[in-house]
Amino acid sequence: MVVFVSGYGQLLTEVTRLLPAGTGIPPVGNDPGEQARWLEHHPVPPGRHGAMLTDQPALWQPAQQAGWRVYWCSPDQPPMGTEPLPGKALAMTLGAFIRLFWDVDIADTRVVADVMTGHARRSGSILFVTSCTGGVGKSVTSRRLAERASRQVPTLLVDGNMLQSSQRSFFDPARTRTLRTIYEWRGGNPTRGANQGKTLHVPYDVCFAPPPGMTVTWDEYVEYVRAARRAWGFIIIDLDRVSAVDFTRPGTAAHDFLLPLSHEGAHILFIVKAGVQTQGDAVGLLSALPQTGIDPQQVGVKDTIPEGMRQADWKRIDWTRWATWLGVEFQSHEAGMRIAAGESGWNDPGLDRTREKVLDWALPGMGFDPDRVKEKAKGWKL
Ligand SMILES: Nc1ncnc2c1ncn2[C@@H]1O[C@H](COP(=O)(O)OP(=O)(O)O)[C@@H](O)[C@H]1O
Ligand SMILES: [Mg+2]
Repeated sequence: MVVFVSGYGQLLTEVTRLLPAGTGIPPVGNDPGEQARWLEHHPVPPGRHGAMLTDQPALWQPAQQAGWRVYWCSPDQPPMGTEPLPGKALAMTLGAFIRLFWDVDIADTRVVADVMTGHARRSGSILFVTSCTGGVGKSVTSRRLAERASRQVPTLLVDGNMLQSSQRSFFDPARTRTLRTIYEWRGGNPTRGANQGKTLHVPYDVCFAPPPGMTVTWDEYVEYVRAARRAWGFIIIDLDRVSAVDFTRPGTAAHDFLLPLSHEGAHILFIVKAGVQTQGDAVGLLSALPQTGIDPQQVGVKDTIPEGMRQADWKRIDWTRWATWLGVEFQSHEAGMRIAAGESGWNDPGLDRTREKVLDWALPGMGFDPDRVKEKAKGWKL
């Protein structure tokens, strides 16, 4: 497939900037009229594909008749002889878009439609927190990330674990309060499904999982998060564990919830607890991810070291083949006590640095700085 770029609106400026030198440049001049004539006189051979991405009005119709797809890449109405970008392309990350047209690997998780309309920052960022084994600290990590993130950006924590409702158990252990859940949300304003942080004594808002016995579909979760991205700058989703086969299995959270949103730029944090079995499971899962179309740039790994583990007993795995490695967190008896007591917001030198690193990765340029946080590695050398 041959694909040319002609124009300098928001989207095509970014595409041109990201493409390797020489790629996508039309064979003639800078004038769209001249380029359209060149396409007209060089019809696309039968069985081949050719496209022009443009935001410049010109006489594009003859080019179209010569077999070229002329995609209009600006928010205005497509003029004669051009067609709008398909909805599927608009919902892609810029990285996936460039891979589709040029088969070039670029890490850019902004959404095409947002870049095109100049609102690349307006849409909230999404971070899934998951693992392949239970009890690794997903729910605690989700809250701690939300707590720190909310100092820089309005943050929503979504409990995406319908079976356990861990966030409800933390904030309302006796289940005596009337709290909003995703079950109450019926489309429209996403704040209907969210509880304001101040009612829960935390600095971030929370959307709880449905009440016991009730469920919503993963499609509803997807729609909810899409709506929430317009209202919050950052959305953290506390997900249940996932397995490699889930990604090919409709009906699972991995296939129906995580996958569609990761194609729209969501980041995924995998927590791996040190220990041979759980690390092995994680290797199996992470090495299967590229087949699902998830960009390794969107995947991060954090190692959790159980209390009392010595460095000599830790088998360090090189995650960088499949993901960004974000560091190590040290569990402790003290942290465990605080969590059990329903506390939030404590300083923990074994946890805070890696939290800062995760946030700087998921929300680059937003003021997170791991180097500002001193790490207490308890005799470990990392
Ligand atoms: N930093 C920590 N130090 C000690 N215990 C922790 C820490 N983080 C989590 N835990 C404990 O580990 C257990 C599992 O945590 P949780 O967040 O519920 O895991 P998951 O959501 O992965 O099932 C909980 O009992 C929690 O209190
Ligand atoms: Mg949990």
